[in-house]
Amino acid sequence: MNESEFIFKKKIQCDLVSEWTSPSNIALIKYWGKQDLQIPKNPSISLTLSNCRTQTRLTVSPIKKYKKKISFDLFFDGNLKPEFNKKVEQFFFRISKYVPFVFDNHFKIETKNFFPHSSGIASSASAFSSMALTIVSLERKFNDDMNDEQFYKKSSFLSRLGSGSASRSIFGKIALWGESEFFSKSSNLYSIPLVEKINPIFNDLNNTVLIVDDQVKEKSSSYGHDLMNSNPFSFQRYEQAKNNIGRIKKVFKNGDLDEFIQIVESEALTLHGLMMSSNPYYLLLKPNSVEIIRRVWDYRREYKYPVCFSLDAGSNIHLLYPSRYKKVIKEFITNELLNFCKDKKYIDDYMGSGPEKIK
Ligand code: DP6
Repeated sequence: MNESEFIFKKKIQCDLVSEWTSPSNIALIKYWGKQDLQIPKNPSISLTLSNCRTQTRLTVSPIKKYKKKISFDLFFDGNLKPEFNKKVEQFFFRISKYVPFVFDNHFKIETKNFFPHSSGIASSASAFSSMALTIVSLERKFNDDMNDEQFYKKSSFLSRLGSGSASRSIFGKIALWGESEFFSKSSNLYSIPLVEKINPIFNDLNNTVLIVDDQVKEKSSSYGHDLMNSNPFSFQRYEQAKNNIGRIKKVFKNGDLDEFIQIVESEALTLHGLMMSSNPYYLLLKPNSVEIIRRVWDYRREYKYPVCFSLDAGSNIHLLYPSRYKKVIKEFITNELLNFCKDKKYIDDYMGSGPEKIK
């Protein structure tokens, strides 16, 4: 599918409500570095989560066409949020080529985050994927030719224009975004679900997020992506990530948890290594993040349970483990790791089945 196939020119003016919830995701193979309009420098793979999600309700009403202006009001937890307007407006402008009807209507956008506790986690992945789904749902009401596959593909395509990682949240369980020699259907324009040849051990992974710091991130992901353009290791990094896609594909098939752990932890530390080797260099890990990582290693060495960590672009630690080990890992978390979390905060989450339509 090329880009032009996503364009839907029909004029739509309507009074309608469309509502979806969509989850966040945690990348196993990290997307870090992009070019042009949200084209990744390397393919990435993530687990789609379940509890950490955003619900977006889009109330559409017709307007007289404003010249190249998007008319919307954005509410977050019931309050107007003008500080998010710029990002949302940019998203609407980017998608307007594919859904030009965004110029012909007014949008009331009401979003709520279901991230347990005040964790400081704001997920652009769940926010933009839920928004894209409401827009494509609207199109679908007027586009008889759109089947389910096209619906999710276009939702992923539009999500990507809001935030790269959002394109992966459209699909449940495991998703891949970006062209990879190991997956013939992969694309830089949208994500695809990885459903075939997945060992059952990966059907029920748990993800416990240990909240080391509940403040909003010091540096945005976009800042980090930009710095990859001048990072002296970027070429090697993109090659490494491409290669890791092949490695993890094998692991998904054979269920080798040791190899899984090696790949996932190496990817997480590489991401932070890239931040530290950027110019300007920066560091998002906190002393307690490092303490937790060390304790996970010690624990694994001693008890041999298959628990590993991942990181996103922040200091919180994501623990990943098959749910059959939930009881023992929970004890480890409660007895040991929570001492290094802000106010002993954590979020229990697990691999989920993806977005849900509300209306
Ligand atoms: C470290 O998707 O937040 O979480 O496309 O600029 O919105 P933008 O970036 P974003 O980057 C995610 C970076 C990451 C790794 C990942 O999710 O793959």
